[in-house]
Amino acid sequence: MSITVRRMHTQDAEDVLRIDEKITGTPNEAQWESRIIDQMTRNPLGCLVAEAEGKVVGFIFGEIRGWEFAIPKSGWIEIVGVDPEYHGKGVARVLIEKLHVYFRNHNVERVMTMVNWNDPGLVSFFRAVGFERSEFIILEKGSESA
Ligand SMILES: CC(C)(COP(=O)(O)OP(=O)(O)OC[C@H]1O[C@@H](n2cnc3c(N)ncnc32)[C@H](O)[C@@H]1OP(=O)(O)O)[C@@H](O)C(=O)NCCC(=O)NCCS
Repeated sequence: MSITVRRMHTQDAEDVLRIDEKITGTPNEAQWESRIIDQMTRNPLGCLVAEAEGKVVGFIFGEIRGWEFAIPKSGWIEIVGVDPEYHGKGVARVLIEKLHVYFRNHNVERVMTMVNWNDPGLVSFFRAVGFERSEFIILEKGSESA
């Protein structure tokens, strides 16, 4: 199967939402489309789609960040999603490779992402494409007390 990756356009938002609904099995929130378009506008080079067999089968949103959390300038994978009918065919790997080209072109040396540790499939996927457990951790608490 031939996979091509290109920049995301506004008209791809519908396909991105369709794939996300197939993955989650729940309808998207109304605000999602405007968030996608906002992300594309702010950061056009970090928003990519994969096409195969004449249709959009996957997407990725990445961004370059630094300073926050005292993390040096780094590339962040915010969301990657592949149509379940196309899982296991290398679509996400190609999306990540193309996003890395964008990061490298902007002198980014580290790429980071955040996953749920209790989602072993996702952790295994990121390990398979070269990610390791980071020294950064997330802390959380309820907002009712200071
Ligand atoms: C995780 C996801 C993006 C992987 O997409 P994909 O196109 O099927 O992945 P690929 O075919 O490119 O797989 C790349 C590597 O990861 C491995 N991999 C993929 N999914 C895996 C899983 N669930 N468990 C273990 N390994 C997995 C593949 O075996 C492959 O390894 P290999 O090249 O050494 O054989 C896809 O399953 C998905 O969309 N999941 C739901 C969305 C989601 O949770 N996104 C994350 C939010 S950021």
